[in-house]
Amino acid sequence: MARKETIAEGITLYLGDCREVLPWLPTAADIVVTDPPYGISHSSNHGASWQGQEIQNDTDTSVRDEVLAPYDNVAAFGTWKTPPIDRAKGCLVWDKGPAFGMGDLRFPWKLSWELIYIRGTIWRGSRDEGVLKGHMQVSWESRGRSHPHQKPVSLCASIIQKAPLTGRMVVLDPFMGSGTTGVAAVSLGKRFTGVEIDQKFFDVACRRIEEATKQADLFITKPPPAKQETLGL
Ligand SMILES: C[S@@+](CC[C@H](N)C(=O)[O-])C[C@H]1O[C@@H](n2cnc3c(N)ncnc32)[C@H](O)[C@@H]1O
Repeated sequence: MARKETIAEGITLYLGDCREVLPWLPTAADIVVTDPPYGISHSSNHGASWQGQEIQNDTDTSVRDEVLAPYDNVAAFGTWKTPPIDRAKGCLVWDKGPAFGMGDLRFPWKLSWELIYIRGTIWRGSRDEGVLKGHMQVSWESRGRSHPHQKPVSLCASIIQKAPLTGRMVVLDPFMGSGTTGVAAVSLGKRFTGVEIDQKFFDVACRRIEEATKQADLFITKPPPAKQETLGL
């Protein structure tokens, strides 16, 4: 059983397992920009409300690889600890700068970077550095962080902008967490489809993306009110 929330025209969020939801969707995605479970059985210890909680399907990269397989144009966060996505054409580094990070405290360097694998031929634009800097991460829950792996909106937006399709292209995030890719997509005037398996994070994503939708300049008319449906998947 999955739940569908229509935030506005072309902006649809699903609560459920993306392996079950995606085969039912009528709209193909132009690009996938996602931050899947890294496959490292990560357990958060930030002293936040999610302390000790494990991300679902994080024991290996099999779910990531199964879900991403049908899509040609993909940007996916990852780690050096597990293999890249299949058919990766390149890899970017997100330099997290002075962001707060725990990791192995006996290792005398902070893990202040993450990888972003790129696949497909859609990516265009000015030839920028492959090390992405200056995208500030919200580190503390008390300052607005609502997911242990929350990414900066500006970072996701900078990736989406490298796929300059005309019209309102569809951005898909099958592992949307707190909805950061969705916030970036609607802020850029794109359509967005997101799926999240955890109800707590799904509710956060609905709130953040609805807020971003209201603020997006492209909506000259007021978007229709959010609609909730239950799907018999
Ligand atoms: C690394 S987090 C994404 C965080 C996101 N980038 C953000 O800024 O909040 C990965 C998310 O995938 C979700 N997830 C894991 N398996 C899933 C599945 N089969 N279907 C949908 N969501 C899944 C987890 O609950 C988790 O919230």
